[in-house]
Amino acid sequence: MPKIVPSSELTLGVRATGVSLPSWLYEELRRAILAGRLRRGTRLPASRELAKQQGVSRGSVVTAFEQLLAEGYLSSKVGAGTFVSGSLPEDMARTPEPATRRPTLLRDASPIRPFRPYEPGLNAFPMELWARVASRRLRKASLSLLGSGDPSGYAPLREAAADYLGRSRGVICSADQVVIVAGTNQSLDLVARLLIQPGDPVWIEDPGYVGTVDVLRAAKARLVPVAVDAHGLDPAVGHRLAPRAKAVYLTPAHQFPLGMTMPLERRLAVLEWARRSGAHILEDDYDSEFRYSGRPVPALQGLDPQGSVIYMGSFNKVLFTSLRLGYMVVPDRLIDPLRALRSSLDRFSPTLEQATLCDFIAEGHFSRHLGRMREIYAERLLVLREAIGKHLAGAVELPPIEAGLHIPAHLLNGANSLALEQRLNEAGVETMAVERFALRRKDINALLLGFAAFEPRAIRKGVEQMAKCFG
Ligand SMILES: Cc1ncc(COP(=O)(O)O)c(C=O)c1O
Repeated sequence: MPKIVPSSELTLGVRATGVSLPSWLYEELRRAILAGRLRRGTRLPASRELAKQQGVSRGSVVTAFEQLLAEGYLSSKVGAGTFVSGSLPEDMARTPEPATRRPTLLRDASPIRPFRPYEPGLNAFPMELWARVASRRLRKASLSLLGSGDPSGYAPLREAAADYLGRSRGVICSADQVVIVAGTNQSLDLVARLLIQPGDPVWIEDPGYVGTVDVLRAAKARLVPVAVDAHGLDPAVGHRLAPRAKAVYLTPAHQFPLGMTMPLERRLAVLEWARRSGAHILEDDYDSEFRYSGRPVPALQGLDPQGSVIYMGSFNKVLFTSLRLGYMVVPDRLIDPLRALRSSLDRFSPTLEQATLCDFIAEGHFSRHLGRMREIYAERLLVLREAIGKHLAGAVELPPIEAGLHIPAHLLNGANSLALEQRLNEAGVETMAVERFALRRKDINALLLGFAAFEPRAIRKGVEQMAKCFG
């Protein structure tokens, strides 16, 4: 039986004026845990009891508990109570990453099945049009397109990307700041090689994108998972865990995998932290072209006059996955080091494909395709919502996401996401337990469902199939 701490033993510090009750409780409990006054494995009093003892509302205790649970200081067991976690977030922030580690195999080249989360709607890609643009480009190709390419990317494509990002994403940059890469993973890899020294602390969203985890681990960074709340990553929490972090990885437009959008106030707080600490912000804007409601949210990069942000995006989700063309926008001081690094690694991205893409954009096909796909995806999301409402109401809950190609389906009634993922997979339905993206979090119980790649009929059938597995 774990030790239960009697309420009377819980002496909390005085609340300063202006500090809300939940924040005070959170901070005091966290302090007691870190100082060892509340030992690992200790069971805390029930929220009602603690509220009574401290003379506060139960709601304040619940809010503080929820935050401590999300950040990994507490863990809870249904029917057994709330405990101080066996390992604390600070342990992770102190432990160096092992030198070698097998990366997570993220992608699967097998035929796409509902609800694989990482593929766009390939069945709606205008292949004939792409073929026409590509063959015209190939027939007219000058010799310069066949020789050594620019490590920063084909100059007209960089111009087109700068123009597109300025207009549609609020990114403020010149074409010189754009680097054409194979995709976001390569952007992350280049940045990590350039900016991260072994042992450097880097904040990462928890749950977060496993591709980033792999790249940062390969760079021997010290990963500092920061639990996201309803507004994404909170720099105040990151600061408590690792005040001298060298960088933070963020998906502010559409948090991966949970889907919330970071509000302006939080964005400004992250920028302010970066300004004060000299850290870099790695902004992964992986799918925000597809926004179905709400106002378009400009990139964090556009709010950053100090050059802390490295902005990363990709054409692979907007067009087709095997294209392998993406971009990053970097502050001036990184342009030359990145050119040199890229040149020493894989030299440059294939120039003919870049030129074809550039023509596709210049002739207006790109923005027409985007508009068309936005409508298709909005419809597919709606079909998924309706089908889940019809077949899985009470078992699964979909959050009100506003963008993207996938949605987390929160499991109700304590269903186990990993077990369910396996059962669904055996029944021909492909999902990913969101738990797979958690670094420390233990409180997430959801399945990631991709809707973008599937016709409405396949979506409905997939949900019916899913419902049988919930049985
Ligand atoms: C959050 C996030 N970032 C980056 C990527 C990788 O993009 P790319 O295919 O351009 O490397 C993905 C791919 O699924 C993603 O989900």
